[in-house]
Amino acid sequence: MKKETKYWVVANMDENDQQAIEEAATLLKQHEVVAFPTETVYGLGADATNQEAVARIFTAKGRPSDNPLIVHVAHPEQIERYVTEITPLAEKLINAFMPGPITVILPSNGKIAENVTAGLDTIGVRIPDHIVARTLLEKLDLPVAAPSANTSGKPSPTSAIHVYQDLNGKIAGIVDGGPTGVGVESTVVDCTGDLPVILRPGGITQEQIEQVTGIMSVDTTISEQIDQPKAPGMKYNHYEPDAPLWLIDGDETFFQNQIDALTKEGKKVGIMVSQELAMKLDASNVKILGSQDDLKTIAYSLYETLRAFKKTDVDIILSETFIKQGLGQAIMNRLEKAASQKVSP
Ligand code: TXA
Ligand code: MG
Repeated sequence: MKKETKYWVVANMDENDQQAIEEAATLLKQHEVVAFPTETVYGLGADATNQEAVARIFTAKGRPSDNPLIVHVAHPEQIERYVTEITPLAEKLINAFMPGPITVILPSNGKIAENVTAGLDTIGVRIPDHIVARTLLEKLDLPVAAPSANTSGKPSPTSAIHVYQDLNGKIAGIVDGGPTGVGVESTVVDCTGDLPVILRPGGITQEQIEQVTGIMSVDTTISEQIDQPKAPGMKYNHYEPDAPLWLIDGDETFFQNQIDALTKEGKKVGIMVSQELAMKLDASNVKILGSQDDLKTIAYSLYETLRAFKKTDVDIILSETFIKQGLGQAIMNRLEKAASQKVSP
């Protein structure tokens, strides 16, 4: 059955905006699901202490039920309410990076609804660094489970229009707070042991984590290779654009050859590249992600660009690859999941 989806635009946190956030909070208290902006991507929120509310998230997104959700809170003290302990490692990361684009995995004390954690004995918690998200969480004084507010398998939403396209008619409301800032999701770090294990690279880089903890973190690709990945979400298809995406792992001549060969086969080719590479290529449908020297801008524009190519316009999308350092780790992690293949010389 189609739902009426309320839509609020909030811009400067004036009285009207506060009222809109109040209404969104009321719907959440009534166990409805509402999408809201965070500094990374839009989240689809529900009361994390209520099974029925949380079940609505999985239904709206079409998300597999064995993929756990991140719990969002407004203050570090709230984290203590839902875990058996804040490990020394978690404490360092919380102090250094929260609020901000990082999620810590800690042992759960069982107070969060079971379907949030998909039966795991741990929970992932984060404090978003976004005025709308923080205000909403403060008004609620409840933990909010929130995955990215996209249909499962699609690129994550970095603006409210993406949420609208995917979920209008399926959720109770959307708070439009403009485009998000970071553009890729939070870094998920398992803090249950002595070593930080990065389960998903994101807005806080491995280098930043190592600097603060003084410990080398564990490589994420290791956990992706084992049968039972520690972040269960990693085994599913993700971020898929409308047309197949190929990663082109070569220089400009190699890239140009791929464009030419596909065009000769009669294929309509879309390309997403840095401005530096764009200048060297001869192609008609080019979307620029940003400068190679500015990974922040590339992260910011990544999902928007993936969503911008429609299968009515292109048969195939070719993307440049980026250096796997700093934010480049998160960018390449998303591109590799979104792509159907990598083409190397
Ligand atoms: O930036 C973000 O983290 C966004 C915004 C909305 O906060 N949220 C987000 O949620 O990306 P989602 O559901 O799309 O991704 C959550 C990731 C998944 O890979 C999931 O498997 C992992 O976090 N995760 C959640 N709880 C976990 C747990 N207890 N143990 C291991 N991994 C967990
Ligand atoms: Mg997601």
